[in-house]
Amino acid sequence: MNNWNFDIDEENIAWLHVGMQDSSANILSREMLEELDHQLLSISQHNPVGLVMLSDKKSGFIAGADVKAFAGMTDRHEAEQLIHHAHEILDHLQKLPFPSVALIHGFCLGGGLELALACSYRIASDDADVRIGFPETRLGIFPGFAGTVRSTALIGHLNALQLMLTNRNLNGRQAKKIGLVDEVVPTRQFKSAARYLIHNRPHRRRPPLLQRVAGVSLIRSGITAWLKHQVNKKVSIDHYPAPNALLDHWNTSAGNPQQMALSEQQEVARLLTGETAQNLIRVFLLQNRLKAQKGDPGFKPSHVHVVGGGLMGGDIAAWCSLKGFSVTLQDQSPEMLSRATGRAQQLFSKLLRDKLKVRDAMDRLIPDHLARGVPRADVVIEAIYEDAGAKQALYQQLEPRMKSDAVLATNTSSIPLERLAEKLQDPGRLVGLHFFNPVAKMPLLEIVTMAGTDAAVIERALAFSKRISKLPLLVKSSPGFLVNRVLLPYLMEAMQLHKEGVPAAVIDKAATQFGMPMGPIELADTVGLDICKSVAEKMGDTLSIEVPEELIHMVDSGKLGRKSGEGFYRYEKGKAVKQETSQPVDQMLADRLIGRLLNEAVATLSEGVVEDVDAVDAGIIFGTGFAPFRGGPMHYIKHYGRENMLEKLQQLEQQYGERFKPDSGWV
Ligand code: NAI
Repeated sequence: MNNWNFDIDEENIAWLHVGMQDSSANILSREMLEELDHQLLSISQHNPVGLVMLSDKKSGFIAGADVKAFAGMTDRHEAEQLIHHAHEILDHLQKLPFPSVALIHGFCLGGGLELALACSYRIASDDADVRIGFPETRLGIFPGFAGTVRSTALIGHLNALQLMLTNRNLNGRQAKKIGLVDEVVPTRQFKSAARYLIHNRPHRRRPPLLQRVAGVSLIRSGITAWLKHQVNKKVSIDHYPAPNALLDHWNTSAGNPQQMALSEQQEVARLLTGETAQNLIRVFLLQNRLKAQKGDPGFKPSHVHVVGGGLMGGDIAAWCSLKGFSVTLQDQSPEMLSRATGRAQQLFSKLLRDKLKVRDAMDRLIPDHLARGVPRADVVIEAIYEDAGAKQALYQQLEPRMKSDAVLATNTSSIPLERLAEKLQDPGRLVGLHFFNPVAKMPLLEIVTMAGTDAAVIERALAFSKRISKLPLLVKSSPGFLVNRVLLPYLMEAMQLHKEGVPAAVIDKAATQFGMPMGPIELADTVGLDICKSVAEKMGDTLSIEVPEELIHMVDSGKLGRKSGEGFYRYEKGKAVKQETSQPVDQMLADRLIGRLLNEAVATLSEGVVEDVDAVDAGIIFGTGFAPFRGGPMHYIKHYGRENMLEKLQQLEQQYGERFKPDSGWV
């Protein structure tokens, strides 16, 4: 209790503060909602002229419903009851005999927005960090605390559907434009703006005519069909049922608020207890688990020095600058430095938009041919050629010039840390920070450690990962670590299928039908066939993988994939030219591709590359995009049945050979 506290001022206005205990953000758990209900009752007994709801948390108003409580929920009836109860409480808020105002700063998402919608008025701060939106369909559900009913009534049908289907977050001004909030003011004027609304009770604006007409029953089915068509171009309805369920719910019940509220409760309960939502909730919690590794709170890095301004080093340097670090970028070739800063400029323009911010980010990124940045760096990241001797020689130059507590990190993707640390005076200070390409898009950062890695260094690496907004995954120094290790057999199987004559587009379709974001052939082209070849060569011995001849031949003839304009596919304006096929794809293709990936995932776990099952799933989902709605490879094995999967691998082994031999970890 004591998550909500109110006082009544001299104007007889009740100020209800929400500050969830032991949490950095306010979350609408069942207890929070019930406590709110009690508070509303107490406040009513004072007969105030109005109620203002505001958050004491720096992070924002309310970040959403309690997703953790939804995990493992399989009883539809229980879910419906829970949702129904939330509806009742928010109805109490809406029906108070005096006006209510929500003051919104920072996050106001999902259930938090639904609560704000039950107030008579909403005022948002004009700060840039305001985020108002409905992220629910990303979790495989849709707004369930009467959000579909109140949002469509307030801002109109098309606006509300768009908000719910796209999960777009709005800042204060954008929210005001569509009528989601009534006022946008600087935070310092919050209280006077709230007082004004309570004393003057202005009429609420009705949604524009077009928005209202869209809700007319005769028109709704046409809009539903059109929106489904749009949505289904982007996601498969078999994999992600929530958007279509939301549209069906709207189509059948909009126009009748009571019926709509009831349908919302039933439909959200159905989705919530279904397999997809439960798996997506799992992914959300896995992400939180990675985020929760905050590392050393005392480590406050401000300067990063990157050595190697090629593809990876250049992009790592740009990313760090984007995240506010001062960065020096060293390369033996001045030309590489100018290319890297050119790419950085493009990235900043795309992500920051504001010219002044782009200029500041460019100012923070300093080409440093003479390595002057080393002595003041808190983190030194090496991203030069994948050559152990060259890396060792470089460390010998760097180490004596570095601050004693600075982190020395390598972006190597295949060389064991033990080898790289051999010539260091203090081998325990080396850690791997394995970024993925493209750095700005891939959320995962593998933090590679070996037996001798200093615990304090790992803590600092974790803190640094947090500062650059990456999801850290601790992995043991071993060939390919986690992500490349499981990806390689999957890619090699795709190339084997290609060699057997299966067209590239068919192989890719088999994988995307399983739920991968991109097929393995297009992925190989995107990563670069030269990189695939080099990784396959380096890991080949350990994983008993032979580099496919076709791959060697393509690289030799300059066909490197997307970057050279041709690989397995030809590329026009950066897009693969595919001969799409409408023929059904043989299930065996997906079995072979995914079978090898799963087998390798089991091997990494049994070898202790990562800590546990959840770490395997988190790494593979965030490092490869593995079908999130399946909850991760290990979770998929559990769902499919371990025995059944093992049997399938044994059949594949008999049919296709040794490479499918189940790892000893299955037993
Ligand atoms: P790259 O060939 O694009 O760039 C390497 C850069 O290092 C070149 O600009 C070169 O001039 C510079 N360089 C080499 N020796 C140097 C030295 N002694 N001092 C200063 N500069 C030096 O290579 P890329 O692809 O950026 O890879 C770099 C590292 O990142 C490698 O260890 C690689 O395994 C790893 N990596 C690569 C990924 C990829 O997708 N390319 C993904 C993740 C890791």
